[in-house]
Amino acid sequence: MTQPVLCEIADGIAVLTFNRPDKLNAINYATADRLLELLDQLEVDGDVGAIILTGAGDRAFSAGADIVEFAGSVREGPRVACRDFVRRGQAMTARMEAFPKPIIAAVNGLAFGGGCEVTEAVHLAVASDRATFAKPEIRLGMPPTFGGTQRLTRLAGRKRALELLLTGEAFPADQALALGLVNEVVPHEKLLPAALDLAARILQHSPLAVAAIITAAVRGLNMSIGEGLQMESEQFAMMVPTHDLREGLDAWQDRRAPRFVGR
Ligand code: COA
Repeated sequence: MTQPVLCEIADGIAVLTFNRPDKLNAINYATADRLLELLDQLEVDGDVGAIILTGAGDRAFSAGADIVEFAGSVREGPRVACRDFVRRGQAMTARMEAFPKPIIAAVNGLAFGGGCEVTEAVHLAVASDRATFAKPEIRLGMPPTFGGTQRLTRLAGRKRALELLLTGEAFPADQALALGLVNEVVPHEKLLPAALDLAARILQHSPLAVAAIITAAVRGLNMSIGEGLQMESEQFAMMVPTHDLREGLDAWQDRRAPRFVGR
């Protein structure tokens, strides 16, 4: 059976690929479950320090939740629809957002609905100049359900996000860049090299410091500044007894490159 998400690991980077190109990589329940399963494996894999997420085929990153499948859950009523569709999708995006290793979306084409929500949830994103984005759920008579009403408003500001949420209109990669939804727009053929280069630039640092920064930044964003500063201090305190912090400070004073080991 074809896997709905492919995983290839090389040089400390796992490339995960949504793999339903004939359905524009729509995220069905099997795709979300497989992605969560892979993230569980990659979290404890000491050979992997960063993850890139992209889409198979030449058209789509992902055209969002599988409408045919979740329409079946909607027909079963609110309890089943929330259990099978909403909670599964929210678990997937929340897991990505809080993942302790950097996840970089390499947005290779359409990122509609859930595809856009995945881009909102991950830590970093590089987009092809062919990528297009949309929050089209309103056209289906519903609000977004994988965090799409929450994260874009925080990323781009309430009015900019509401315009996209309330019109459902598609927007190009340049606009995604201006909104802060992606970090960089590159020519299509340079997409994967650009994402790999970004991952490699992070991989040279201590994985403990990387995890501490992701945790403090992502969780702190949803706290008061006082609570966020407290968490920042706790993340630093956890680094104090580590080899990596001692090594970073020693290496700077010895004027040499640090050798981080992740403990
Ligand atoms: N769920 C399930 N199947 C989807 C899908 C989705 N979100 N998006 C696309 N597909 C399927 C289509 O049904 C079609 O399959 P088929 O060939 O077996 O009929 C295939 O992917 C190609 O899509 P198609 O609609 O023919 O391509 P298009 O170029 O005409 O249109 C889109 C592209 C993105 C505009 C259109 O597919 C679309 O509106 N998709 C839904 C986007 C959306 O609302 N996402 C949010 C869901 S909550």
